[in-house]
Amino acid sequence: MKIEGKEYRTIWFENNVVKIIDQTKLPHQFVIKDLKNIKDAVNAIKVMEVRGAPLIGATAAYGLVLALIENNDQSFLNKSAEDLISSRPTAINLKWAVDRMMKKLSGVNSDKILEIAVNEAKDICEEDIKFCENIGLNGLKIIEEIYNKKKDTVNILTHCNAGWLATINWGTATSPIYHAHKKGIPVHVWADETRPRNQGANLTSYELNEEGVKNTIIADNTGGILMQRGEVDMCIVGTDRTISTGDVANKIGTYLKALAAHDNNVPFYVALPSSTIDWETKDFKDIPIEERNSEELSHMEGLDENNNVKKVLIYSKKSKAMNLAFDVTPAKYVSGLITEKGICEASTEGLKKLFK
Ligand code: MRU
Repeated sequence: MKIEGKEYRTIWFENNVVKIIDQTKLPHQFVIKDLKNIKDAVNAIKVMEVRGAPLIGATAAYGLVLALIENNDQSFLNKSAEDLISSRPTAINLKWAVDRMMKKLSGVNSDKILEIAVNEAKDICEEDIKFCENIGLNGLKIIEEIYNKKKDTVNILTHCNAGWLATINWGTATSPIYHAHKKGIPVHVWADETRPRNQGANLTSYELNEEGVKNTIIADNTGGILMQRGEVDMCIVGTDRTISTGDVANKIGTYLKALAAHDNNVPFYVALPSSTIDWETKDFKDIPIEERNSEELSHMEGLDENNNVKKVLIYSKKSKAMNLAFDVTPAKYVSGLITEKGICEASTEGLKKLFK
């Protein structure tokens, strides 16, 4: 997708270096950063220079490539895989990508291993792009149906950033929106701000602006009243881990949006590639929920009057804060899962019909 009219992907490999768009700097600065070794890759995931489930999976895959360039040794590779998997706990794509890479590299001779690792990491990225494109084509049908009935702008609410910046290209939740926009269907996005890190405001609104898609940032608590007023035609969110029961872990606040959608008969869809399905976990209470530094709540960053990025404390130094990063929306509140293979019911049966 485009930034200032130029096509980008979120991650690429060039001259033995992994290039990323540093998302901690957006929307005020566009910075391409080099990841040169495994430490850089683990750190980029931890501090969220790269974020979003599919993108952290791809970064982990390239992290193993960097580990091999640094030290082509099995125990170093094993330790690097462990460090990558533990860098963020909720998004299953991270473990999925590391496991896929390690399986591919198992038993490979050291003189061939780097080339095979580079190709596999590239394949993971290409596959994600294709899957996200298909998610878009499948989700487009729902938007088209709403438009054909309404014959007016389709208002879509999304939470956090499940846009192209969270993937390699297209995004998950945003892919149907970009496809509708490219087809000339009038769409308008309500972008939840998504406190505390504001990925909805800083990333979703930013990337939609760059592609010319109409959008409005709203505070996280605004979705309910908009649904009561009939100003939301559908919700589409992404997910960091969807378990085999169809329960969906996503950015904190997703659950409350799903409850409001249910109360107001607004369709609530979740868009995901199959790499985000956790087939092993059977109970959503077993999904590890990341708890991040409370400084993300107590401090905010923005541009000061001289256009310098500044971080400020926004509440009393004495106040304590708790920062859970994800919640789980039970399957019963999900109208459907939009995947690369089609749309299915959020249930074990629904998922099994699409994925053997
Ligand atoms: O904490 P983040 O910014 O990595 O969380 C991202 C989300 O919650 C996205 O909705 C999710 O990863 C979907 S990815 C397309």
